[in-house]
Amino acid sequence: MSALDRVTNLRKEAQDAVGRADATTELDQLRVRYLGRKAELPNLLRRVVELPPEERAAVGKAANEARQAIAAQIEERAAGLAGKELQARLARDRVDVTLPPDPPPAIGHHHLISQTRREIEDVFVGLGFMVHEGPEVETAYYNFDALNIPVTHPSRLETDTFYVKPAEDIFDPNTVLLRVHTSPMQIRVMEQTPPPIYVIVPGRVYRPDLDATHTPQFHQVEGLAVDTDVTLADLKGTLLRFARAVFGEQREVRLRPSFFPFTEPSVEVDVSCFHCVDGVTASGERCSLCKGTSWLEILGAGMVDPNVFEYVREHGYDPERVQGFAFGMGIERIAMLKYGVPDLRLLYDNDVRFLEQF
Ligand code: DAH
Repeated sequence: MSALDRVTNLRKEAQDAVGRADATTELDQLRVRYLGRKAELPNLLRRVVELPPEERAAVGKAANEARQAIAAQIEERAAGLAGKELQARLARDRVDVTLPPDPPPAIGHHHLISQTRREIEDVFVGLGFMVHEGPEVETAYYNFDALNIPVTHPSRLETDTFYVKPAEDIFDPNTVLLRVHTSPMQIRVMEQTPPPIYVIVPGRVYRPDLDATHTPQFHQVEGLAVDTDVTLADLKGTLLRFARAVFGEQREVRLRPSFFPFTEPSVEVDVSCFHCVDGVTASGERCSLCKGTSWLEILGAGMVDPNVFEYVREHGYDPERVQGFAFGMGIERIAMLKYGVPDLRLLYDNDVRFLEQF
């Protein structure tokens, strides 16, 4: 076979192979096979001088053209294949971000304080009460004055109340403070709505205390019912329903005389202990929950003091015409009693080993 025929054959063979290649790795092999340092075609080109003079020009030209044509075809084919391979890899690697993670993450739940707050709300909503919320930053007027709390009351001191600005005069009704209880909302609700009203007010309150039973921020639920012919019996019946809904249908409640500036008469309300019988547990020991008394104090309450109505008389609250009862309870206290939480601070540590239990 003449050198020229050999070049023609090599060119055809290489171009057929390149045309059939369908992977860039295969093209790399063909490039080495036909154009590499030890390949036949480049070798032939290098040894053109050894040919008879009349053949040299034609063979040299043909071999050169063949080499360029093969190289160009490899480049072109490589570009096309690289694009196709990239598309295939992208399709293969596509991540479906809508798939659920594996393993699925644990589903959370409401904090014990939120659960308890909702439970309390449900009971009173079932009794026809509305749920209102109010400002945590209050004035002394709503927090103290309009609730008939005298200027001499110790809770007004800076040791018992967080004042927002260093109080020039803590007895100024416009002094701004963090509310120490939810009771100021009694006044705000009555200013906004004429009687009859039946409301509860859950929310945060603040006091400068920190120990096993006090945190500087905690939660209360205030209750206020004002209507004509409201009596202490209505208060007791309402709280009995509440106590049974939260602590069990066997419970009783007991009212003990007490004092709050904004109620008259005032009472402390106890619920019968759900952990023992007459102060003695099933295993015959003195009950640690009620300290053997068989009663648990759950809240303060009373009949709205007529002096309080005087502050909202112009909004429809004539103390000669309407009566009301009010109560206030600590949400943390209810939760701790119900679930046997020994230290209030556990509720705020955010340790999942504790929170998971509820
Ligand atoms: N505000 C009182 C406190 O924080 C609780 C309270 C007692 C609220 C009697 C009332 C009530 O509405 O009638 O200690």
